[in-house]
Amino acid sequence: MRIDIMTLFPEAVAASLKISILGRAEKKGILDIRCVQIRDFTDNRQQQVDDYPYGGGWGCVMMAQPLKSCLDHIIGDAGERRRRVIYLSPQGKTFDEAAARRLAAEYDHLVLVCGHYEGVDERFIEECVDEELSLGDFVLTGGELAAMAVTDAVCRLVPGVLSDEECFTGESHWEGLLEYPQYTRPEVWEGRSVPAVLRGGNDAEIRRWRRKRMLERTMEKRPDLWDRRELSDEDEALLAELLKERSRRPLEEPVVCRPVTEADVEAVGLLFRQAKNYLRKNRVDQWQDGYPNEDTVRGDIDSGEGYVMTCGGRVAGYFCLSARPEPCYDAITDGKWRYEGPYTVIHRSCIGAEYRGTGLSERLISAAEELTRAMRIGSIRVDTHRHNEPMKKLLRRCAFQFRGNVIYQVGEGHDPRRQGFEKGLK
Ligand SMILES: C[S@@+](CC[C@H](N)C(=O)[O-])C[C@H]1O[C@@H](n2cnc3c(N)ncnc32)[C@H](O)[C@@H]1O
Repeated sequence: MRIDIMTLFPEAVAASLKISILGRAEKKGILDIRCVQIRDFTDNRQQQVDDYPYGGGWGCVMMAQPLKSCLDHIIGDAGERRRRVIYLSPQGKTFDEAAARRLAAEYDHLVLVCGHYEGVDERFIEECVDEELSLGDFVLTGGELAAMAVTDAVCRLVPGVLSDEECFTGESHWEGLLEYPQYTRPEVWEGRSVPAVLRGGNDAEIRRWRRKRMLERTMEKRPDLWDRRELSDEDEALLAELLKERSRRPLEEPVVCRPVTEADVEAVGLLFRQAKNYLRKNRVDQWQDGYPNEDTVRGDIDSGEGYVMTCGGRVAGYFCLSARPEPCYDAITDGKWRYEGPYTVIHRSCIGAEYRGTGLSERLISAAEELTRAMRIGSIRVDTHRHNEPMKKLLRRCAFQFRGNVIYQVGEGHDPRRQGFEKGLK
């Protein structure tokens, strides 16, 4: 496969295409990637490639003549080939894996034209370009990044560039699915284990597990791809299994709620970090200011208000249950608390990443309710960030009700707005 990239910045483009896998394939003679300076083909002494747009307006437009002369030179040099001239443009069809496969299969010479400034004279596109490709619905300052993306995606599909066809046929987008999750050593990292099936060595089980994960993550991350799929009978059976598994994964018994001790501090710190990552990923500006941390847990140990949830002996969840009134709750707006008299407050509740979807959160809330009852207190309050949808859903599932908005003390630059929820205990 020969690729000529017509650009005003050939050195910059070449620097990133002549290395690693593509660089090695070029040395083996499988690829021939050339970056051609458009400026070398001007017919004026100043080597000017652009000029003002007719009709006025902002910026400059690349002239047709240097582009056409550059293209003629490339074609003359390459000779008769299955060729496609592509202009990288925000107005083109969005480039995707299907386009990469088509270009790799149907052509052995691609000429990629990189525009700059306001773009290129329309007459060059009409006269010389076979198709326009876009990297996405946004505007770049030049076509170089798009040309590099197209070159990379096409070239890795050229036979011999990767060691084996399987290197790309199993990957995301090959058959309209996203790839399964990948893991490498160590076996446990930040408290997260590599799934047992991948360590078990049973090839059939591994294949099955991977296929399920492909279906699962495509459904979750890319519903647009998912909706376009025809499901095979085998995929449908796997999907049914998956939905059943997801409806409730079993918890390792016994599930116990007990006061936190110094020996648990590190494990709880890990739960906090996982919860912070989860909130950050979901763009919830809660717990992003350093709070809570291991010192917060030590404070809870001193006040006797911290509790861990353990599953099969492992620390799996944490919360603080305080019978001290929360001062910011007195200033509730847009509603009011319903239950008079003493109440408990749940703070810092979280569960480990691997326990999501197991029902542990509900068990944590009911443990807090039991403790509140044991204190002979009739209601519980809790607040959560106004964008923390998973927490709000959980509270509603556990029969808490929204009462109004409160402002919590948080680090500077973070969003202090919280929603207050309440539940009366019979
Ligand atoms: C600033 S852009 C010109 C945009 C043009 N005036 C328009 O509004 O359609 C300059 C050059 O960057 C390249 N470019 C910009 N966005 C691109 C995208 N999304 N995909 C591919 N190339 C792009 C094109 O080669 C284009 O000629």
